[in-house]
Amino acid sequence: SLCDIGFIGAGVMGKNLIMNLADNGYKVCAFDLDHNRLDALLEQDARERGERPPRVEACSSYTELLGRIKAPHLVILSVPAGAPVDDVCHKLLDAGLKADDIVVDTGNSLWTDSVERCERFKGRLIFFTTAVSGGDVGARFGASLMPSGDRYAWTRIEPVLNAIAAKVDPDSGRPIERREPGRPVSGGEPCAAYIGPIGSGHYVKMVHNGIEYADMQLICEAYHMMRSALEMTPAEIAKVFREWNLGPLNSYLIDISAEVLATVDTDTKQPLVDVILDRAGQKGTGLWTALSSLEVGCPAPSIAEAVYARSLSTRKVLRTRAAKKLLGPDVAPVEPARRAEVIEQLHDALYCAKICVYAQGFDLMKLAAREQGWQLNFAEIARIWRAGCIIRAVFLQSISDAYERDLKLSNLLLDDFFAGQIALNQHNWRRAVADASLLGIPVPALSSALSYYDAFRMESLPANLLQGQRDFFGAHTFSRVDRPEEEKYHVQWSEPGRPVVEV
Ligand code: 6PG
Repeated sequence: SLCDIGFIGAGVMGKNLIMNLADNGYKVCAFDLDHNRLDALLEQDARERGERPPRVEACSSYTELLGRIKAPHLVILSVPAGAPVDDVCHKLLDAGLKADDIVVDTGNSLWTDSVERCERFKGRLIFFTTAVSGGDVGARFGASLMPSGDRYAWTRIEPVLNAIAAKVDPDSGRPIERREPGRPVSGGEPCAAYIGPIGSGHYVKMVHNGIEYADMQLICEAYHMMRSALEMTPAEIAKVFREWNLGPLNSYLIDISAEVLATVDTDTKQPLVDVILDRAGQKGTGLWTALSSLEVGCPAPSIAEAVYARSLSTRKVLRTRAAKKLLGPDVAPVEPARRAEVIEQLHDALYCAKICVYAQGFDLMKLAAREQGWQLNFAEIARIWRAGCIIRAVFLQSISDAYERDLKLSNLLLDDFFAGQIALNQHNWRRAVADASLLGIPVPALSSALSYYDAFRMESLPANLLQGQRDFFGAHTFSRVDRPEEEKYHVQWSEPGRPVVEV
């Protein structure tokens, strides 16, 4: 019998998505240029299906793939973002793909590429995308999915994506864990929701990754403080993270950070974290978020700082030289008696900064949506991030609730719940940032979030002086507080008495 879905790309993500589809009763025909990957896929299916008939087939050409799946064809791609996506679409067209066939890109594509691609292939195939978060485990056992594109295509794909999505227990709002092959979760709310027109899904995923970068950086800063200022061992810090994971900071990223810190290197028997080189990698999605925030004119400083922190980390040779030359403050580490208090401060700082990071990310999505004419449902976006994805956290239920209370909420910080949480915890946040600065420990994400918060709540900012400077050197004009804003003024700086004139 014909297969339900054609799948191109059986790398780590692709293979896991295929096995997830198979677990959910879809028969998949897979193609990959690397035959070894297809062999591994078939072996895995044979191992996991037991006595049941094969659920996965492999084929050796695009033409064969189209011949083995039901029409109209549904082909899912898990190939590297960029040119390979175009290349595969062209090959599928050459192999006979038709105008009502759907191609679904699951990669971390740049959202503007998806928009252009959809336009370019219009009338020749239906180009649809679903951004996937959750790494290889999410792909295998339930990911968070951010689909966007043609509405008609969505109605055809919806059941497939709902099936392979992570599920949330509707009563507790917590993820329903699935770690075993062959047994999909029955019931639960799927972490998949139609985001909007083409491009919007990848934009939302891009911002997810920007938040992911900032969230990871915040945790790393808390670790750095505990390690350097409190002289705690990785195992002790792991314990603190495990405690934090029982409260409002409960999240996948805190959980895995504890796991990393508790792990011992098998070779040297040292804490694993001590043998990992401190140069961070990045593949671009955090950078795209920061760039977009600058373009849209929506501040996301903690996300940008997280990208910078990774960049600075790669300049290890320079840092090593600077470490020998540049002096820091001459202060002793925090005395042991203050340890618990400083840990408490860091906890509250992390919580407040995290609220600001999400405020920045959601605000960015809001402004971008306004520019693009997308109707994004923020309550739903927060809901589909509750499970499956890398930033999954208990906290996302509160964000979803905030947008449920007020669909037009202009910034998360203005929600009563979040405003109250920061009011309660800000003292410790300020002390943590102050301590870090006195001790000479960099906390770019924690401190930029604090500056964001403080600037956001200021009715008056020093932008008045700035406008004066601009007018001084470039006659850029300014508005006055005592006249209508549309009226523009300029100072004749070189005239005696510096008269102000309307221009
Ligand atoms: C996810 C992740 C995933 C991946 C990113 C980040 O949501 O599943 O965000 O997309 O881990 O590519 O990678 P970098 O840290 O290398 O940029």
